[in-house]
Amino acid sequence: MKQDTILVIDLGGIENSVIARMVRGMGVYSEIVAHDITIEEMKAYSGLKGIIYAGGPNRMVDGVKVCPEDAVLHCSYPSLAIGCEDMPGINITSTDESAIRHFVFDKCGCEATWSMEIFVQDKIKELQQQIGNEKVLLALSGGVDSSVVAALLIKAIGSNLTCIHVNHGLLRKGEPEEVVRVFGKEMGANLIYIDAVDRFLKKLEGVSDPEQKRKIIGNEFIRVFEEEAVKLEGIRFLAQGTIYPDIVESGTKTAKAIKAHHNVGGLPEDMNFDLVEPVKYLYKDEVRKCGTALGLPDSMVYRQPFPGPGLGVRCLGAITRERLEAVRASDAILREEFRMAGLEGCVWQYFTAVPDFKSVGVRDHARSFEYPVIIRAVNTIDAMTAEIETPDWALLKKITSRIINEVPGVNRVVYDLTPKPTGTIEWE
Ligand code: XMP
Repeated sequence: MKQDTILVIDLGGIENSVIARMVRGMGVYSEIVAHDITIEEMKAYSGLKGIIYAGGPNRMVDGVKVCPEDAVLHCSYPSLAIGCEDMPGINITSTDESAIRHFVFDKCGCEATWSMEIFVQDKIKELQQQIGNEKVLLALSGGVDSSVVAALLIKAIGSNLTCIHVNHGLLRKGEPEEVVRVFGKEMGANLIYIDAVDRFLKKLEGVSDPEQKRKIIGNEFIRVFEEEAVKLEGIRFLAQGTIYPDIVESGTKTAKAIKAHHNVGGLPEDMNFDLVEPVKYLYKDEVRKCGTALGLPDSMVYRQPFPGPGLGVRCLGAITRERLEAVRASDAILREEFRMAGLEGCVWQYFTAVPDFKSVGVRDHARSFEYPVIIRAVNTIDAMTAEIETPDWALLKKITSRIINEVPGVNRVVYDLTPKPTGTIEWE
């Protein structure tokens, strides 16, 4: 379907994303494009209805004053400039929602037809055209982004998609099983499940430096993925769960570098895959809506952020199976209790960590010497700074009681009161 579109031309404005999201929120598709977009590239948007120039002070991008090419500047589409006092046409100074609404609907004549259901229908057709009868490979972690990409591709190309799920042993309780159930069984995906638990834990044996742990987990993941990928024949495309903030965060001109950074496999050049990135123009909340529209369960779509190295950076110091299981079990209790208390979806991130030292306690009238569990729950907007969540004492006491009674090897629970800064969200 031809989708009414408003392009936001990035002239160094800091509110590009706010504007694009605002327009999408009005039911009209909007995309951020670089300042040097050509008139031909612009005309390729078949539903283009208007242009918003988003400029910051003096329209500076990377220290250089920028101006769109003449043909763009003098094109016949209605335009609105925000924060660029010296530009032609209508100019407003801030992201005033009523002025933008007036521009989008009254000046450009857009219809509010952008919805996730339409996006899904269009994207499936587009993927079918792009991929044809070729085969696609996807590293399916079970996180929101890769799950939504998998669900879209299953609808678009069915068994021509192969998903590889690497279980590195550092996932939360029930996660690998959920991936197998939802994708392998319910959605009928062509799913290769790799049990690499022993392999990862062996590589991590005795390694206590957090960055070294991260490096090992990342590298080993690529190795396992590669080993499986080379066994497959005739794969033309690699699908990735790149999302819009990945591209936009460092400005539209740096989209390429950001993509490389997010390249899941980090696969060698000679593998020569073409990329399929079906949600790269969606914001996180839109990716979630897309997942819901595709029928993915809420537990998958609305899950809290989870670091790539998983529980590996929450089993502090050198990882042992005993402490890793203590992290996994205590995390599951915390999540269950937060869910039952109505906190799921309200608190940004909450988890447990287990340090590599023990403390003295008393159990069954005898001395115990066991590990503590640290509970951390934080709220943030961008993960750059964070405030702690302050749950009810009664809830914390219930969680504590469950952890010390249900998790083997744990005799003490502490709550982390530290904001970021000075603490980071994760402990490692
Ligand atoms: P920090 O600990 O830096 O975390 O305050 C900020 C956010 O990033 C997540 N995080 C990671 N995500 N790989 C990831 O994919 C990592 O190595 C990593 N370390 C931290 C963390 O969970 C939080 O949401």
